[in-house]
Amino acid sequence: MSTERKHEGSLGMAMKRKEDPRFIQGKGRYVDDISLPGMLYMALVRSPYPHAEIVSIDISEAMKVPGVKAVIAGKDLDAAGLGWLPTFHGLDKQMVLAIGKVLFQYQEVAAVFAETRAAAADGAEAVQVNYKPLPVVADPFAAKTDKVILRPDRERKTNHIYHWEVGDREATVKALAASSKRIKQRIWFQRCHPAPLEPCGCVAYFDTMGRLQFYVTSQAPHVYRTALAIVTGIPEDKIHVISPDIGGGFGNKVPVYPGYVCAIVGALKLACPVKWIETRTENLTSTGFARDYHMDVEIGATAEGRVTALHVATTADHGAFDAAADPTKYPAGMFGVVTGSYDFPVAHAEVDAYFTNKAPGGIAYRCSFRVTEASFAIERAMDILADELNMNAADLRRKNFVRKEQFPYPSPLGFTYDSGDYHKTLDTALEKVGYHSLLNEQAEKRTRGELMGIGISTFTEVVGAGPSKHFDILGIKMFDSAEIRIHPTGAGIVRAGTKSQGQGHETTWAQIVAEELGLDPQNIMVEEGDTDTAPYGLGTYASRSTPVAGAAIAMAARRIREKARKVAAHLLEVGEADVEWKDYRFQVRGVPAKSVTMKEVAFAAYTNMAQNEPGLEASYYYDPPNMTFPNGTYIAVVDIDRETGESKVRKFIAVDDCGTIINPLIVEGQIHGGLTEGFAMAFMQEIQYDSEGNHLNTNFTDYLVPTSLETPHWETAKTITPSPHHPIGAKGVGESPNVGSPAAFVNAVMDALSPLGIRHMDMPLTRDKVWRAIRDAEAREKAS
Ligand code: CDP
Repeated sequence: MSTERKHEGSLGMAMKRKEDPRFIQGKGRYVDDISLPGMLYMALVRSPYPHAEIVSIDISEAMKVPGVKAVIAGKDLDAAGLGWLPTFHGLDKQMVLAIGKVLFQYQEVAAVFAETRAAAADGAEAVQVNYKPLPVVADPFAAKTDKVILRPDRERKTNHIYHWEVGDREATVKALAASSKRIKQRIWFQRCHPAPLEPCGCVAYFDTMGRLQFYVTSQAPHVYRTALAIVTGIPEDKIHVISPDIGGGFGNKVPVYPGYVCAIVGALKLACPVKWIETRTENLTSTGFARDYHMDVEIGATAEGRVTALHVATTADHGAFDAAADPTKYPAGMFGVVTGSYDFPVAHAEVDAYFTNKAPGGIAYRCSFRVTEASFAIERAMDILADELNMNAADLRRKNFVRKEQFPYPSPLGFTYDSGDYHKTLDTALEKVGYHSLLNEQAEKRTRGELMGIGISTFTEVVGAGPSKHFDILGIKMFDSAEIRIHPTGAGIVRAGTKSQGQGHETTWAQIVAEELGLDPQNIMVEEGDTDTAPYGLGTYASRSTPVAGAAIAMAARRIREKARKVAAHLLEVGEADVEWKDYRFQVRGVPAKSVTMKEVAFAAYTNMAQNEPGLEASYYYDPPNMTFPNGTYIAVVDIDRETGESKVRKFIAVDDCGTIINPLIVEGQIHGGLTEGFAMAFMQEIQYDSEGNHLNTNFTDYLVPTSLETPHWETAKTITPSPHHPIGAKGVGESPNVGSPAAFVNAVMDALSPLGIRHMDMPLTRDKVWRAIRDAEAREKAS
């Protein structure tokens, strides 16, 4: 029997979230809760045209609206050297307010400052802008022709932004040609939007010392501070960025948006605080969209179903500016993980990105920079291959998985997968879902013409950006940081460079400290989001918090333990070498009864430290040696009503492997949330434009967010293969369900429709789209 004593709240404990009492009582403090004396409100004038020259802007009527104090336009900012913002990717710049022309519908054209929110909105309505429409390019394939050059401001007169490729093209082409089976499919991951419940916003003011105080909904406050210093020329020490509570980010709150710069300029010009909170429509139409990848996927295989090669060529629609926040070396993010869980001998992936007259972005929506697109492509393509080979989809996957003895596994596209046991994860999911009886049920239903589908997704993703030799944002390496102080009574504070937007860091960061130091997590306070107090970090997105900041916290705690060992030796009256840390306390080696707790040591560190330096604190900046590779098997069971086209997800099982789990309750919550988003993308969501670049669904009446009524019931389970290089063996998990689930849903629907000869349909699989596909298939059948 193990004698190990688990400390309350340490790793693996399902501790309730410390932050929830405040959130569920409506006591959170969000940016819009901040109200300052003399504060003005800002509203933005936005373009009704997707592409048009700005002939003139007349603000005279707007200035007559009661309460309006000022209006600024692009030329004012340009004159002050603030006309353009560098995008986080570093490949492009973005207009703050339109200069000369507008490039997408709802683009920011002027900013109005007024005494009330209503007056600012009225003022914005009264600004008269004279536009001269220009030809619109709403389709990335049309953009390729360069008939209309959208960005003449750039040196290269083309709509092509970049070409990126990885892998061995020649070997892949050869292996594909030599393969006895080949499948090729264009797969579009539609444009969608993270749509956090709280839209973006800020409050800016210059305090009596002339220092910019900037409250903002930012997932990366330190990066904002640096970016603002670069854009505005204000020295970085004169900028204080504070991200208070945030109501969901999902990647939407990583970029610096034009509204923020305008609010700061307004605060400077008018010498008073300025608040800007965007509306839902502004959020959906102008802040970071996600996906919009058109992927031509080709797989070669032997007749027995062993994969031989993978090629993916992608056309990416980036909208008017390349406003993604990808690391410098990775313009297409982590798309190179597109070989997924499979041992492809060779592979080649390429991405070409284009400007169009659509909102800018291409942000990592709950995803490690394009991993969701990659995962969807490979998981759909494997099902299409199974269909082609007339093979069971689970068997095909099992045959081609990277085997557990192959880890650390060098993928043909350059990653080194850290750990995993894909066979075990798949088998767990198949057993939990009752796969074999489902197959029997399906066979029986098919004889009656009923449409039932089973969809499998066995995804692998790459999270934890990232090792400094490869990863940076605007040149800043993607490390993360932690600072821990233990007070005399054994309570303490952790500060980290991350920023929770609902992920529960106040709980899990305290649990890591509890595990490492044997202290009570209820008395470890966690603080993030304030650049004056938190150590410099790159923020929270792309499931990087646990792999990077989580590691920094564990390492800082270990530094504290080393210091504490000296104090413990003094208290135990032995040499330091005779003190060991065991069962969450310091013990004299070989004499376990002679021990002291960390709480006792903490008190002594301030009261009885002998020759030791007083105090008990440490910091750590963690540069990860590798990324972590969470993975899982998701299985969806879907029934389709043949008459209405409605898909009903009858059962869904998610088996995740995120290495060591800090808090199973939080992980479960993360998975439920991400699956719901995956479900929404699969069945409901697409940011739609017409051929003239008009944005068609600009609010939640048209861009649907699932409620509890539509959301299926989720069943979860886990396997655990710790990450060998992470101090506590943890991988990220926040994005896994968003990354892995869309393919499970779509594979299930396609499996249900396969008796009708339907091979692939693009998301969202709305009722009317599926109904139309069934009718068309029936008509084809009749005609043949
Ligand atoms: O970067 P972000 O916080 O969005 O993602 P994450 O690192 O995957 O963490 C999401 C939440 O799940 C955090 O509270 C983590 O500490 C928690 N988590 C966990 O308890 N165990 C893991 N192995 C991974 C994450």
